[in-house]
Amino acid sequence: MKNVEIYEKLAKKYDTATKVVSFGIEEFWRKIFVKEIKKYISNGTLLDVASATGDMAKAMDFEKMYLLDPSIEMNKIAKEKLQNKNVKFIEDFAESAKVPEQVDIITAFMAVRNFDNLSEGIKNLDKYLKNGGYFAIVELTKSDSILFKLSMFYMSKIVPIIGGIITGEYQTYKKFDKMIKNITDDEIINQLDGYEIIKHKRLFPPIASIIIARKNG
Ligand SMILES: C[S@@+](CC[C@H](N)C(=O)[O-])C[C@H]1O[C@@H](n2cnc3c(N)ncnc32)[C@H](O)[C@@H]1O
Repeated sequence: MKNVEIYEKLAKKYDTATKVVSFGIEEFWRKIFVKEIKKYISNGTLLDVASATGDMAKAMDFEKMYLLDPSIEMNKIAKEKLQNKNVKFIEDFAESAKVPEQVDIITAFMAVRNFDNLSEGIKNLDKYLKNGGYFAIVELTKSDSILFKLSMFYMSKIVPIIGGIITGEYQTYKKFDKMIKNITDDEIINQLDGYEIIKHKRLFPPIASIIIARKNG
């Protein structure tokens, strides 16, 4: 099953369900992420990949923004949220999308684990990033910490119950822990060939990392 089919079903209740099941931690991480990025670049053209309901674009607020997501339902919600912004939607997969121009930064917040093929997704997106541009990622990544193991237990056993109550999609949430493919920071960093890693930081709780890379050239 393509991951996007799961998100199509959840789109309408996605924002509420995410806030509740993550206890607001995702939004806390987003704030830290935006602050980190803005140390390097504060405006220009942005491509937000796996843009879902548009919260990343809303938080970044760059002068020109492309939102890339294959989910029709997610894009509908993002369009409503970003009515007054200079945004263009690309309804496609990271692995195959065509972007009309090269951008200054690509943001991928809780995004790359959803790619059906991590390597193809990053390789395709790289074509649309200017030399000297930034690839900024936040992802849930594996570690040996007890907190990571507990959070995986929470994801597989508790999230389906809470998410199911909020969205009515218990079975869909049951598939969630399989989507969290337990990727490591190194697996992501290894795909960033031709980039300098300028920020690599474990977030708290230590179940996710920020990786910011600058494209050489
Ligand atoms: C966890 S949400 C992303 C959260 C979002 N970036 C944010 O800032 O809140 C995952 C999104 O990935 C999208 N997705 C699934 N497969 C994808 C792919 N191959 N390429 C790009 N996006 C994909 C889904 O449609 C969904 O909207």
